[in-house]
Amino acid sequence: MGDASATEPEQGEPGDSVIATRGLTKRYRGGQLAVDGLDLTVPAGSVFGFLGPNGSGKTTTIRMLMGLIEPTSGTARVLGRPMPRASRAVLPHVGALIEGPALYGFLSGRDNLLRYDAADPTADPRTRRTRVASALERVGLTAAGGKKAKAYSLGMKQRLGLAGALLQPRRLLVLDEPTNGLDPQGMREIRSLVRELASDGTTVFLSSHLLDEIEQVCTHAAVMAQGRLITQGAVADLSAGVRGRLVVTTPDTGDAARVLKEQGAADVVVAEDRVTAEPPERDLAEVNAALVTAGVRVRGFGVERASLEDAFVALTGEGFDVAG
Ligand SMILES: Nc1ncnc2c1ncn2[C@@H]1O[C@H](COP(=O)(O)OP(=O)(O)OP(=O)(O)O)[C@@H](O)[C@H]1O
Ligand SMILES: [Mg+2]
Repeated sequence: MGDASATEPEQGEPGDSVIATRGLTKRYRGGQLAVDGLDLTVPAGSVFGFLGPNGSGKTTTIRMLMGLIEPTSGTARVLGRPMPRASRAVLPHVGALIEGPALYGFLSGRDNLLRYDAADPTADPRTRRTRVASALERVGLTAAGGKKAKAYSLGMKQRLGLAGALLQPRRLLVLDEPTNGLDPQGMREIRSLVRELASDGTTVFLSSHLLDEIEQVCTHAAVMAQGRLITQGAVADLSAGVRGRLVVTTPDTGDAARVLKEQGAADVVVAEDRVTAEPPERDLAEVNAALVTAGVRVRGFGVERASLEDAFVALTGEGFDVAG
């Protein structure tokens, strides 16, 4: 391993990071500190979820990674090379979909892609039509390929932007909110497409403000809040240290809620035939016994697996809301 990686660090090897930032910071001209000292490490081969509420700095980070804006301070390496300096060498290996893809409204979706492909000097013109047709197919736009882009819905524009990122096989795909504007079926399609690309060995970096979306598709994640990195790592590890909620299913919700509070449970919430709470720091067998002794008819009793949202709340002490 040693020799090759010493002479060609940009080639990368399994286990290498595909994106690495150190102290990456962006303060916009108006004074807004959008990204604050970000240290991000995206392992090769991962599906990496970049998670954070609206305004937390996701798009700003992605713009810096793609060399579209200069950081105020700090560094970003993509495929082992510094950005924005190595943009010309790096960007041909990266497919990107960034907020509001630029489209020619007067051209059809297919013609937009043909034109986009033609702007890539490495793309063979003889195979252009095939490439465009298969990209349209992959994002489910074959039937709508002839329609003018200005007549596309938000979800269709998003799909077209994604098709542009898929024209060539890439080592890295950077997708800023790829399911924005899509309906649930469209979101499922994008998720399965992402899994398919990842199984072909492409590293996928995608941003989202939807926690469950990240949980469903990502192997790794980073959580941002107000421009700062809260945590990053394997998705399974992020929520592993966090206790899930205690869930009691019962027709006697009022009594159950009272007993749980007496037993030291916090944040007790009743919804239909379920009472959920933060589990108390004691043997849950005793909590269950106390419910039964109090005459609560218990249908179900257990601790739900912690979600990323639980982890986020535990880490920030806040809900997953937009910061001011
Ligand atoms: N061009 C700009 N000039 C000044 N401030 C900006 C600019 N772009 C973004 N900001 C500010 O920087 C912060 C981060 O914005 P950014 O777009 O990176 O967030 P985001 O996480 O992508 O949000 P969303 O989920 O809504 O897409 C916000 O407070 C935003 O108002
Ligand atoms: Mg954004």
